[in-house]
Amino acid sequence: MIRKILKYGDPVLEQRSEPVKEFDTPELHQLINDMWETMYAAKGVGLAAPQIGVLKRVSVIDTSVGEDESKKVVLINPEITFREGKQTGEEGCLSIPGFREPVTRANKVLVRTQNVKGEAVELPGEELLARALAHEIDHLNGILFLNHLSALKRDMIRRKIKKLQKAGEWD
Ligand code: NI
Repeated sequence: MIRKILKYGDPVLEQRSEPVKEFDTPELHQLINDMWETMYAAKGVGLAAPQIGVLKRVSVIDTSVGEDESKKVVLINPEITFREGKQTGEEGCLSIPGFREPVTRANKVLVRTQNVKGEAVELPGEELLARALAHEIDHLNGILFLNHLSALKRDMIRRKIKKLQKAGEWD
């Protein structure tokens, strides 16, 4: 089922999500299916559960945007255990539509995560995948890409969003 994606301004997006403790349950499978459906419908590269209002540490990523099944990644209770190098590139977020800004991230990361059965998995990522992993794990800690911008840039975007909210063009 396609779920509503919460937009910046919703306090849920800035809360810390809770670890998943029960694996391979119908609820967890349903959540992940809904997240894939919602992400592909919105043509995104990644989606975190809090973006659909579920404060659970679950994210999905597909850097091929539906072109290559082997690129699909499900993260459950993920942690970045290693970072190397730097990359700067334009970043956007389905919860902040219409805004893209350069963000500096590690160029390589190693993520320790769990799969849907609860098994531990180590996942290396470089370049776009490294960026997506960092962005989606940030979401689980209530952090948005705006938090990585300068205060000046962030305030400018906040003001533009406030105007859109007032005009009823942001919900
Ligand atoms: Ni995002």
